[in-house]
Amino acid sequence: MRKPFIAGNWKMFKTTAEAVKFAEDFLKLYEKDDVRVAICAPFTQLAALKKAFEGTGVAIGAQNMHFADNGAFTGEISADMLAEIGVNYCIIGHSERRQYFGETDESVNKKLHQAFAHDIVPILCVGETLEQRDAGREYDVVREQLVRDLEGLSEIQMRHMTIAYEPIWAIGTGRTASPEQANEMCGAIRDIVEELYDTDISCDVTIQYGGSVKPANATELMNMPEIDGALVGGASLKPEEFIQIVNF
Ligand code: PGA
Repeated sequence: MRKPFIAGNWKMFKTTAEAVKFAEDFLKLYEKDDVRVAICAPFTQLAALKKAFEGTGVAIGAQNMHFADNGAFTGEISADMLAEIGVNYCIIGHSERRQYFGETDESVNKKLHQAFAHDIVPILCVGETLEQRDAGREYDVVREQLVRDLEGLSEIQMRHMTIAYEPIWAIGTGRTASPEQANEMCGAIRDIVEELYDTDISCDVTIQYGGSVKPANATELMNMPEIDGALVGGASLKPEEFIQIVNF
């Protein structure tokens, strides 16, 4: 049985003081243990958040990492550095990184291997543009991303993986995929995992939906059978909004 997983993606928002304040306010409202919860914060907030969430069940995640162990990569952060802080998750291949920072399926694949090698669970993001959806190519696009991104990952790694379906046209636009559209694609992703691995693994893998998830639409989305949780951007920045999604 898959446990619902709600992760916040803070993107480039909040200073450390603001992050700690969020944690204090959120913990006053948070009392669920039947949902996995994580906050994926900017690098500089991770150590403070780890401390603030100690013993509460709220996990922390990064939003990117480098695929090399170390080296002359000015401005980059390694998996080792994240693991030392106790980071549990790392978003990999977010469309904003693919779009603005030259992330490719090849680098995404290397990062997935690197994350698992350091016991960091990746949240792999895939999704199509509006143009691709309008052309009826959304399944092909997502399939191609998955085949390339997942190359060489072992069965055990796949079992622990989280995949977030994030249609690019729904991110930060206020335009959510309908529950049916989101469910269909999450189901298609599960079928692709089954084809690449096996039925057992496809049943175990966690598949989130992301893209303008808000308190008002969370319940309907989360109640769809193929959707196991959400990757939440804007609505994860306010404790009183994020808690409503966690309590969907
Ligand atoms: P949004 O972002 O909820 O603000 O649309 C989601 C994401 O980018 O992960």
